[in-house]
Amino acid sequence: MSVRGAVWGTGALVALSVGAFAMTVGRGGDPTTQRIDFGAVRTVISPAFDPAAPAPSRARIKEFRIPMTHETIEIADGKTYEGWTFGGTIPGPALRVRQGDTVRVTLVNETPMGHSIDLHSARIPMNEAFRTIGPGQELTFEFEARDAGVFMVHCGTPPVLLHIMQGMYLAIIVDPADGWGTEADKEFVLVQSEFYPNASGSDEPAGPDIEAALARNARYVVFNGKAFQYKENPLRAEVGDRVRFFVMNAGPSLSSDFHVVGAVFDRVYPDADPAHVLTGVQTYGVPAGGGAVFETVFEEGASGEGVYAFVTHAFADAEKGAVGLIQVGAADLATASH
Ligand code: CU
Ligand code: CU
Repeated sequence: MSVRGAVWGTGALVALSVGAFAMTVGRGGDPTTQRIDFGAVRTVISPAFDPAAPAPSRARIKEFRIPMTHETIEIADGKTYEGWTFGGTIPGPALRVRQGDTVRVTLVNETPMGHSIDLHSARIPMNEAFRTIGPGQELTFEFEARDAGVFMVHCGTPPVLLHIMQGMYLAIIVDPADGWGTEADKEFVLVQSEFYPNASGSDEPAGPDIEAALARNARYVVFNGKAFQYKENPLRAEVGDRVRFFVMNAGPSLSSDFHVVGAVFDRVYPDADPAHVLTGVQTYGVPAGGGAVFETVFEEGASGEGVYAFVTHAFADAEKGAVGLIQVGAADLATASH
């Protein structure tokens, strides 16, 4: 079980004891406030970044403490990068709230330079909530999550291109007040993004190559921060499962043409609003700075037991790392050619 699973799931008491997570319980037994400190709970990134969506909470107030850090991150096998993060990982931890919730964010700058946070899910004056804070500073603000979807969150400190290419982004899921209209058996969060590392010694972490980023000449295009990581560590589903993918594209500059080889999406919610539902979709584009929900069923007699690949169908980018596998049932991975 992942750390995130432990915090959100049956291990909540364990997490309480280390102060990473807390719930305030109101009358009737329902929690009123959920607090998560991402300084104490890091998303599992080994052997692969944990792709499971956080479990929903009924608490109507969600509080997130998000430290910003500078970290050395492995962005491809044997390739490290001097990244900038929310919560110590690239991408940062996925957040999950429900439409109508009050969301309180405390941003803590543990780096030697200015950073900020921009939540696309927040209707709020940017000059207050999204302002840059300096080393050692904190900023707390709140907003009502009015709009359902999966939204980009990123550092908006200029130059924004640099702060995004360095890794400062994460996804926030806002579940619709009345749910998504289907019951998913598995839910995954996939954040697509690009890396533009400069030339570095073979053992040295790379830094940013701004010229390459301005030319959109990505060296790696990845899901959840590392090239090809889900080829050896596939997403897992069982035969008959309805699988929901929350796909957010952090860019900074390329689009994602999301597709699953061997499946058809019976539902796609462009911009992740269930009012936008499309049916029978092969590939759907997620713009830089956007998100969408994709659903498919791995049903017997159709996309049943087997190995499937998820890709951006812009194949130049898939070749740079934006491809992974989905193992359904007991299928033999060795037979997969994608
Ligand atoms: Cu920043
Ligand atoms: Cu933005």
